[in-house]
Amino acid sequence: MATSQIRTFMFAGHDTTSSTMCYTLHLLSKNPTARHQLIAEHNDVLGPDYKQAAKQISERPNLLNQLLYTSAVIKETLRLYPAASSVRSGEPGCSISTPNGLQLPTDGFLIWINAYVLHNHREHWPEIDSFLPERWIVNEGDPLYPPKGADRPFGSGPRNCIGQKLAVLELKLILVLTAREFDIKSVYEEWGELHPTKGIKTLNGDRAYQIISGSAHPNDGLPCRVSLATH
Ligand code: HEM
Repeated sequence: MATSQIRTFMFAGHDTTSSTMCYTLHLLSKNPTARHQLIAEHNDVLGPDYKQAAKQISERPNLLNQLLYTSAVIKETLRLYPAASSVRSGEPGCSISTPNGLQLPTDGFLIWINAYVLHNHREHWPEIDSFLPERWIVNEGDPLYPPKGADRPFGSGPRNCIGQKLAVLELKLILVLTAREFDIKSVYEEWGELHPTKGIKTLNGDRAYQIISGSAHPNDGLPCRVSLATH
């Protein structure tokens, strides 16, 4: 029992968070305005010298709670690219209602509550294809305000992700300790030239679409170049 629990924690705790981190860096690389805003927040909250960030956070970890835009960047990444989903067992007497009035029995089935579909559903989300961290900061009543229940990167209910707070904390820390020091750019075009036989595959125009490989990973491993930031 203990071995199985430890293995679940090791897998669930590592693969999802690292894949989300890759997508966060990819989206920041594609959205320079958001990246500038993120860096401005780090300068405001932690001071302009990025080399002091680790020391400051270890002395005052509560500073991380002030990083509202950084949290919004992580939430918006998890909306566009949720690393995992939920599965539940069907039960006798439990059915699913469809929009056209059918009742689908669930007994004997496993039900996949697909977060990607929910998060990319045009009926629920305005400006659905845009990377808009702002939607996680606006007040209720704003057209961008996230619809209730449509955002489930960590599942829902008593079996939701036990590691979600740790995951967000890790993601915030990594961003704070890297975003100001490095420029990380996705270079799919360059990768394509180096691997002409692999072809250019996209999904709805997206080169970094998710493929299942444990949790959901970026297609072709998200090739990127890292350099020291010049800003
Ligand atoms: C961005 C990072 C992560 C994402 C997107 C994620 C997502 C999920 C999702 C969707 C579920 C299923 C929840 C449900 O069925 O309602 C889940 C379950 C779980 N996660 Fe995470 N997770 C992440 C990070 C972590 C971390 C850091 C840990 C532990 C250190 C962890 C441990 C677990 C465990 C043990 C479960 C099973 C919970 C249960 O069945 O009661 N996860 N996660």
